[in-house]
Amino acid sequence: MSDTLKKDRRRLLIATSAAGAVGAAATAIPFVASLTPSERARAAGAPVEADVSKLAAGEMMTVEWRGKPVWILRRTAEMLASLEGHEPRLVDPASAEPQQPDYAANRHRSINPEYLVVIGICTHLGCSPSEKFAPGAASGIGEDWPGGFLCPCHGSIFDLAGRVFLSQPAPTNLEIPPHKWLSGSLVLIGEDDSTTA
Ligand code: FES
Repeated sequence: MSDTLKKDRRRLLIATSAAGAVGAAATAIPFVASLTPSERARAAGAPVEADVSKLAAGEMMTVEWRGKPVWILRRTAEMLASLEGHEPRLVDPASAEPQQPDYAANRHRSINPEYLVVIGICTHLGCSPSEKFAPGAASGIGEDWPGGFLCPCHGSIFDLAGRVFLSQPAPTNLEIPPHKWLSGSLVLIGEDDSTTA
């Protein structure tokens, strides 16, 4: 999928999320009634499979789960290295807050260090942050920027593990959804061994 398509898709998801947040009560019944049974199960929160086999290192894809955009970022070795060295500038560097599964309570916040699976919704007021993967001054954020995400609404910044920096409007890291890998290239979002036990 091209960058333009990905951005359009993300905008659509954001618009859908925002509309859902504002008018869920008014629109839920006619919307659900118009869905097929499998679409209804999906809208109600059924797990979603994502095939990452075509995702190149450094690329990110978005899948929808429970009406939310879930990002899957395949990090390069440089991106993984960028997660070290700025922990004192982070709110919750070790992901101690109980906002993610235990398997995400590590520096890379993921099961497989290469792949970040994270809900692409800012923990401040729910906007969708933008990609700011390039490190350094070219990002427009600062010389010491390690690469990550910028929420355009009120300026919250997150690193490439979705960890929020200190003194930002967003109080916590981006949320990690329950998920598990079914194979080396297939990830199931919305279910893990704790939810199936
Ligand atoms: S919604 Fe992200 S900074 Fe406000």
